[in-house]
Amino acid sequence: MDGGDDALAQRLQAGAAQLEATLEALLPASTAPYATVIEAMRYASLDGGKRLRPFLVLESAALFDVPVERALRAGAAVEMVHCYSLVHDDLPAMDDSDLRRGRPTAHKRFDDAVAILAGDGLLTEAFAVLADPATHPSAEVRVGLVAALAQASGKDGMVGGQMIDISPERHGLDLQGIKTLQALKTGALIGFSCQAGAILGQASPEEHARLTGYAADLGLCFQIVDDLLDITSTAEDLGKPAGQDVEMGKATFVGMLGLEGARAEAQRLADSASQRLELFGPRAKTLRQLTRFVLERSS
Ligand code: IPE
Ligand code: IPE
Ligand code: MG
Ligand code: MG
Ligand code: MG
Repeated sequence: MDGGDDALAQRLQAGAAQLEATLEALLPASTAPYATVIEAMRYASLDGGKRLRPFLVLESAALFDVPVERALRAGAAVEMVHCYSLVHDDLPAMDDSDLRRGRPTAHKRFDDAVAILAGDGLLTEAFAVLADPATHPSAEVRVGLVAALAQASGKDGMVGGQMIDISPERHGLDLQGIKTLQALKTGALIGFSCQAGAILGQASPEEHARLTGYAADLGLCFQIVDDLLDITSTAEDLGKPAGQDVEMGKATFVGMLGLEGARAEAQRLADSASQRLELFGPRAKTLRQLTRFVLERSS
């Protein structure tokens, strides 16, 4: 690790700690008659994960001097949607995974019905967080965030991507088809995370466009590395099952391009993402460094 990597690691850790405190405050333990679903929501969202999406919100918001409390709320919202997507992705009807973030998956710890409800609860709560005036005093900004997260999460975003991922047609996808699948299933929420900073900061269309381009490259790079790690790593290192993609016949870049080809494509995308931020100068240093973290991560 060089000095830049150290500084980035520290920032990631600090961002994750702030996010943890924000999520804890937004999802307190409860003694309500429905406390089990809250316990499951907390189980699925607290104390785990890289917190990459909230970090993207924090860093993109910092480009526009957005107060950190606002960015943390938007970061918590996208992390809630991400955690919901993982809970449902792991269900027996989807990827049927038993391990997530080094622990039993939500449906293993609770049961399928509670896991489905916990996912529903996290998804819904995310929008309540964005709609709250504490996220931004301007109703227009809040509606902008709500609309952008809905777009990224729904049928033309993550849900659409998950649909292609499980459909029989996935077997016939060409490279462009796989790119579309990945852009929807993973890219859309990463895209929202970068856009959120620009929406909170009421950035110019040019600034929005640069961040959108960065997120598109980074999101694809991120999913290619996820697919590579599924083959090259172990469940112990990943904290989730390894080797599932081949077993389940998933459509991945690795399947299409081979390990070396997929690695080269991930590298190209990381470089391209970094270049797209030149407009922001030294202020975007952390976001540029993050491309290497995404590329070189081991979990
Ligand atoms: C896993 O996402 C699911 C994908 C979209 C590839 P992450 O690798 O960000 O998972 P956590 O949040 O760190 O657990
Ligand atoms: C899931 O992709 C992406 C989601 C929308 C949750 P994967 O199925 O590849 O994610 P992992 O490998 O289980 O984390
Ligand atoms: Mg999946
Ligand atoms: Mg999965
Ligand atoms: Mg995967």
